[in-house]
Amino acid sequence: MIDFHTHILPCMDDGSQSISESLSMLRAEARQGIEGVVLTPHFYAHENSPAVFLKRREHNFRQLKPYLWPELPEIILGAEVQYFEGICTVEGVCDLRIEGTDYLLLEMPFSHWSNHMIEDVITLNDRRGMTVVLAHIERYMAMQPKEIWSHLRNCGVLMQSNVSFFSNWKTQHKAMSMLSRREINFLGSDCHNMKLRQPNWDQLPEKAWTLAQKSAAYYDFQAAFYEA
Ligand SMILES: [Fe+2]
Repeated sequence: MIDFHTHILPCMDDGSQSISESLSMLRAEARQGIEGVVLTPHFYAHENSPAVFLKRREHNFRQLKPYLWPELPEIILGAEVQYFEGICTVEGVCDLRIEGTDYLLLEMPFSHWSNHMIEDVITLNDRRGMTVVLAHIERYMAMQPKEIWSHLRNCGVLMQSNVSFFSNWKTQHKAMSMLSRREINFLGSDCHNMKLRQPNWDQLPEKAWTLAQKSAAYYDFQAAFYEA
């Protein structure tokens, strides 16, 4: 299993603030049975250009690398890219895809999405070598009309959910139905630290674990990553 959404890379965002915190999080991921972790620090266009962000990510990863022992999960570099108007026209956005793959983890605004925003996402997804994965979709479901979701899926946009969607008794039935219907393609802990937002795969119901492992999207992702 791969944790598709984490804030483990130190000193990049509101996630891990030190190498030791990052290592504690990676050890927790390993204990919980995770074999691969995608590092997805926040990318905010108003803070950095893609080029500056990637330099920071490389620098911070170099600090962590000497401590990555084989018993820890495999590390895959990525980003959680916050949507901005015109994102589909910016060339450098391609460089924020998860390394070795076409996948771009995209964080949408916590609001009703306009038609213009939906079109931006679809145009971005239509770019050659680009597959958009919407981050923690459960946060936005109540704010969008139902048909938006099938429209996005029909256009090839993939969906990621947080483990907390499955561990919360109020939402877990909905989460399981969506996973069974393949309306959720990837799972992530979205962990930020070891206190309030720690790796939480131990709270994922076993049935969800099994279903996610069988997900075609995971196979495709792994195939893309290991072929690269
Ligand atoms: Fe996140």
